[in-house]
Amino acid sequence: MAKNLYISKVAAAAFIVLTVSSIAGIVTMIILYKTQISTMNPTPRPTFPSTTMGPPPVMRLPRNLIPESYEIFLHPNQTLLFTGNSTVNFHCVERTRTIYLHSKDLTVSNPVVMNKNTNKKMGVSAVKHHEDPSNFLEIQLNDILEQGNYSLSLAFKGELSEYNEAFLAATNVAPTDARRVFPCFDEPEMKAVFHVTIIHRRDTTALGNAKMHGSNIIDDWKYTRFHPTQRMSTYLFAFMVSEFTSTSSPHDRVEIKTYARPEATAAGHAQYAANITGKILKFYENHFDIEYSQQKLDQIALPDLNPSAMENWGLVTYQEGDLLYEEGMSSLLHKELIANLIAHELAHQWFGNLVTMKWWNDIWLNEGFATYMSYYCKTFVANDLHTAFKEDALASSHPLSPPQEDVQTTSEIMEMFDAITYCKGAIVLRMLADIVEERVFNKGIKLCCNYKCLLQDLWMKSFKNLPKGEDGGHTEVAKVMDTWTKQIGYPVITINTTSGEIYQKHFLFNDSSESRFVLWWYIPIRVMSNTMGPSLVWLETTDTDEFISKNGEWILANVNCTGYYRVNYNQENWDSLLTQLVTNPHRIPLMNRGQLIDDAFNLARAKLLSVTLALNSTRFLRTEHEYLPWESAVRNLEYFILMFDRSEVYGPMQAYLREQVRGLLIYEIIVLPPRHNQIIAIQMACSNGLPECMMMAKEMFAKWMNNDTNNIHPNLRSVIYCQAVAFGGRTEWEFAWNKFQSSSDTSEKEQLRGALSCTKKIWLLSRYLEYTLNPERIRLMDVASTINYIARNVAGQALAWNFIRAHWEYVSQGDPAMLIEGVTSRFSTQYELEELVRFANDYDLGFATRAVQQAIEQTQVNIQWVSENKDIILEWFERETAL
Ligand SMILES: *[C@@H]1O[C@H](CO)[C@@H](O)[C@H](O)[C@H]1NC(C)=O
Ligand SMILES: *[C@@H]1O[C@H](CO)[C@@H](O)[C@H](O)[C@H]1NC(C)=O
Ligand SMILES: *[C@@H]1O[C@H](CO)[C@@H](O)[C@H](O)[C@H]1NC(C)=O
Ligand SMILES: *[C@@H]1O[C@H](CO)[C@@H](O)[C@H](O)[C@H]1NC(C)=O
Ligand SMILES: *[C@@H]1O[C@H](CO)[C@@H](O)[C@H](O)[C@H]1NC(C)=O
Ligand SMILES: *[C@@H]1O[C@H](CO)[C@@H](O)[C@H](O)[C@H]1NC(C)=O
Ligand SMILES: *[C@@H]1O[C@H](CO)[C@@H](O)[C@H](O)[C@H]1NC(C)=O
Ligand SMILES: *[C@@H]1O[C@H](CO)[C@@H](O)[C@H](O)[C@H]1NC(C)=O
Ligand SMILES: *[C@@H]1O[C@H](CO)[C@@H](O)[C@H](O)[C@H]1NC(C)=O
Ligand SMILES: [Zn+2]
Repeated sequence: MAKNLYISKVAAAAFIVLTVSSIAGIVTMIILYKTQISTMNPTPRPTFPSTTMGPPPVMRLPRNLIPESYEIFLHPNQTLLFTGNSTVNFHCVERTRTIYLHSKDLTVSNPVVMNKNTNKKMGVSAVKHHEDPSNFLEIQLNDILEQGNYSLSLAFKGELSEYNEAFLAATNVAPTDARRVFPCFDEPEMKAVFHVTIIHRRDTTALGNAKMHGSNIIDDWKYTRFHPTQRMSTYLFAFMVSEFTSTSSPHDRVEIKTYARPEATAAGHAQYAANITGKILKFYENHFDIEYSQQKLDQIALPDLNPSAMENWGLVTYQEGDLLYEEGMSSLLHKELIANLIAHELAHQWFGNLVTMKWWNDIWLNEGFATYMSYYCKTFVANDLHTAFKEDALASSHPLSPPQEDVQTTSEIMEMFDAITYCKGAIVLRMLADIVEERVFNKGIKLCCNYKCLLQDLWMKSFKNLPKGEDGGHTEVAKVMDTWTKQIGYPVITINTTSGEIYQKHFLFNDSSESRFVLWWYIPIRVMSNTMGPSLVWLETTDTDEFISKNGEWILANVNCTGYYRVNYNQENWDSLLTQLVTNPHRIPLMNRGQLIDDAFNLARAKLLSVTLALNSTRFLRTEHEYLPWESAVRNLEYFILMFDRSEVYGPMQAYLREQVRGLLIYEIIVLPPRHNQIIAIQMACSNGLPECMMMAKEMFAKWMNNDTNNIHPNLRSVIYCQAVAFGGRTEWEFAWNKFQSSSDTSEKEQLRGALSCTKKIWLLSRYLEYTLNPERIRLMDVASTINYIARNVAGQALAWNFIRAHWEYVSQGDPAMLIEGVTSRFSTQYELEELVRFANDYDLGFATRAVQQAIEQTQVNIQWVSENKDIILEWFERETAL
């Protein structure tokens, strides 16, 4: 799955149906499934106790039956029902009288069990549906199944909530919704071959995981039969029925097609995706040295999909806005994100689809690899590093690879799809690649793909560059990696360049919660100084001379930020590093220029460094033109802005930032081709009130309003729209709203949706919040992010918090975890903390439970931080701006 919407917990709908209004050509989506439970047995009696009393139910299938293949007929038949039947062939490896498999919200009938060896029917005595989170379908037999081959046939139907003429049916079953489409052994390890036939309206096209084998027409219905799939996990099962059209990609062997709404295809919006997909697939084929194993690869742009992409084998689905690209309308960033997302999903065709984790507790291997493989620029790396650092510095984090027992229910599985899994996963793999050297790492990956090893077995003993173990021998990769994957958090290393002393400890924002953990890591350190090039050493096994500075030279550890840890130094070394940054920043590698700022600010937050040193680390930005250091500073100062934009610190702070960014703004305006930094320059300059910037934004927007020809460069649209709406009034807002409603371009719509939250007018913000309750104005899937945009605006913060409490039931359907994080991000008073605790007690938090816990913890940290730092920071900004 894709990471940008990984937190989404709405993915529960297995089918999505699209209605196309023939008049306006506007597309709206209707979620087809009711969430009610349908059962075949009116009074089912669970054999296992329910979750509310007694021990938790057994959640895992017994291992006595092993599925081999499925024969599936599915008929989404446009009435309120879809119907189907399936036959699963399986081996019995241990005698039993009961068949367990998964089924959810399906009405199941006509069970027939056959002994394949004798071709005799077996008598079925009872069929039970477990009404608990296990979703077990239990089939009891008259006779015992001995070791051998059997089949189970079932007919089933599922309920749909809407009926429409023209339509699109698409599946999205990861992680545990295949059981809502047909009864199955719905666990990743239970791989099987799928023979699928879809029965659909004759003028529509059906796509499946595998290539079409043939079709025939009976009355109004077309029976499309697909070739058997590879042996694969159920969560990768997919099919789609639509009237979409496709764009082809060149590839020497695989037939690659990108499907989208006919209008979008005709307008060429799928062309960019089609252009790069063949190349990316080829790249991976060479990289892994193993061919993509199917004859075809379809990609589909769906107008409504949560999460934003899913790597179904041979039939990858994307959220439309994340796949389609419109020349002259979409920004450079958008283009990069499309490439990054396709690279992620295609990497899964090997990592995840071909080699699969044993169970969901190790989903990080799957997602971490796909994310790691999709890195092609430092910006993505830095983003993930910072996201992981942030999430993982809280005591409520979780290990990359928790014990299996901790990940059992569907909601526990869904909770695994978070920033730790994606970002820390990728960063830890990048660290491993750096330790053993990329060439060796790639060789290991190839081996693993070739032998279809379990991903866990990748830790091979052949890797070099490992630390010496206690016995003087080389420590195994597994031992090293376990310290990073089985424990929560990450270390900070502290280096005293006077004595050469160096030590590690667990990094937490709240230092006093540390006592709960005694953690220790194997830490690889790439270190350099202004006289010596980089070398790799291991903490604890290295000679301390490495870290002693001579004659005031600086020492830099974690060169290029390949290690997943922070670094602190003695004051003298910090001074030398900051001086170097001001005098000649290019002596320090680019990634480290950003990371020094990030480390300084976060060490200060954890009270391991003074906050004035962190602020001092932003001085060199006055002459810095690169994106990463600026991004790092802006992101860290964002916390200061959140904590202080309701206080007297804000004035002097804005004055300082205006001066720092002035040079960048001038530089960026003349730079061609446009780059990401222009956005930062304009956003920093305008939001801190640099007059040149405000004038520019106003003028650009006014031209559009007066002329109706939008000449604002695509890269700059989001920031210009926002600033213009912020400085404008009702006219600008209404103009943007009308454009938002009438635009058919998804990225344009996204930018306008964000910009609408930038107004300073309370009544406009209130009205905008009300709009989120109406799915015709703001789609349900956009509700959480829209409210978060409003909460981000200091004028909208309190409004948004009141709003989500008043409408929790509706707004929490979207993405409650993200919503909580966004709306509480400014919380820094005792009163706000009390409100949050009351909220946690009074409301049904569902999927947001962990997010609320984290928000409470974060608010406590904020309160303390503000009380300790406000005066010092005010003084620092006042002194800086008085100079
Ligand atoms: C759809 O399925 C339902 C339930 O089996 C059936 O009653 C109905 O006739 C089917 N509709 C069509 C058009 O086949
Ligand atoms: C499954 O459904 C298809 C299509 O309706 C039908 O042709 C087939 O006989 C059914 N198979 C079983 C085992 O019922
Ligand atoms: C069961 O089926 C497998 C192939 O699916 C075959 O190799 C095996 O011999 C069969 N076992 C028996 C007992 O027939
Ligand atoms: C796709 O590739 C063609 C041929 O290389 C090129 O002319 C076209 O501009 C590309 N389109 C996009 C949107 O990248
Ligand atoms: C660093 O080491 C020197 C020499 O041993 C010592 O005087 C100094 O206090 C140490 N600095 C820190 C910050 O621990
Ligand atoms: C830090 O953690 C300790 C121990 O878990 C806890 O008692 C304390 O309230 C926390 N402090 C803050 C500011 O969160
Ligand atoms: C750090 O990154 C730069 C730029 O990618 C590269 O040239 C350099 O070799 C890297 N240094 C190390 C020690 O990996
Ligand atoms: C920050 O910079 C100022 C001015 O150069 C200096 O006086 C101060 O000691 C520095 N603070 C820290 C903690 O390094
Ligand atoms: C709007 O601006 C464009 C380009 O700047 C120009 O070609 C067009 O004539 C203008 N239209 C109107 C109505 O002024
Ligand atoms: Zn993924």
